Amino acid sequence: MTAAIEFRNIRKDYGDKTILDNFNLRIEKGEFVTMIGSSGGGKTTALKMINGLIEPTSGDILVNGENIRGKKMTDLRRNIGYAIQGSVLFPHMTVEQNIAYVPNLLNKKDKARTRAAVCKWMGIVGLDEDLRDRYPSELSGGQQQRVGIARALAASPDILLMDEPFGAVDEITRRQLQSEIKRIHAETGITILFVTHDIQEALNLGTRVLVIDQGQIHQFAPPQELLASPATDFVKRLVDKERRTCRLPDDRLGDCEFSGVGCTRAEETDAEDDAEGAGARE
Ligand SMILES: Nc1ncnc2c1ncn2[C@@H]1O[C@H](COP(=O)(O)OP(=O)(O)O)[C@@H](O)[C@H]1O
Ligand SMILES: [Mg+2]
Repeated sequence: MTAAIEFRNIRKDYGDKTILDNFNLRIEKGEFVTMIGSSGGGKTTALKMINGLIEPTSGDILVNGENIRGKKMTDLRRNIGYAIQGSVLFPHMTVEQNIAYVPNLLNKKDKARTRAAVCKWMGIVGLDEDLRDRYPSELSGGQQQRVGIARALAASPDILLMDEPFGAVDEITRRQLQSEIKRIHAETGITILFVTHDIQEALNLGTRVLVIDQGQIHQFAPPQELLASPATDFVKRLVDKERRTCRLPDDRLGDCEFSGVGCTRAEETDAEDDAEGAGARE
């Protein structure tokens, strides 16, 4: 099957500094890949190469089997949603106009279709319909984040790139957004690549978790595997608290339930501190 995203021998230098080297990665269609690692490790750089915001020094990137080199960026980005931390909304446009931005471009004449799309996506990301005429400055951080995600999804992309999208919201909103993005993934079958500095978030959301540090891939595996057999010391440090939080003997960690059902989350705060200790904070 054709991969959704493929990095082939990617190298990226800034001046004499090499950020990524011999970077190879294959993400299948429909996967939800979470990417975690130390700050400055090259996560954002890798992500932005997929939608052409950053060009590799050498190597190839394939999206849906097509090399993006020489491709028209507008065509490429039409199929790739991009959501980042904080508000990236147009401040002078209402919620509706923000979400409708891309659908409007696509169905110029069919206003009803655009309106229906806006309504649908507001519902999916959990935004109340009354908010459609508000301006971004009249919304909470969590609401702004939801509008950002609705706007990215409204273009009906095959691939959604998310760079620490929930970094700036409170804990409760973050939990809600996490379950919504999980549901959206399950319902749409979209391919998601999601950068986070929170190991709990990475393990909870990802069908596979990619751990990178200083441009090197330490492990790319399902959450159970990361917990049961961390490939390097870096991964081990990252997941150690989470392993203990699950309170299962090592040989049974594969049975650990990451939805929170089978886990006691008493050490939550410590776990986050630990991720920070491992250098995984932005
Ligand atoms: N435009 C740039 N010019 C020079 N160095 C950069 C540029 N963008 C990022 N870097 C450097 O590349 C490294 C990787 O950055 P980044 O991909 O943003 O890391 P991460 O998202 O993992 O925190 C960092 O050391 C950063 O300072
Ligand atoms: Mg980053």
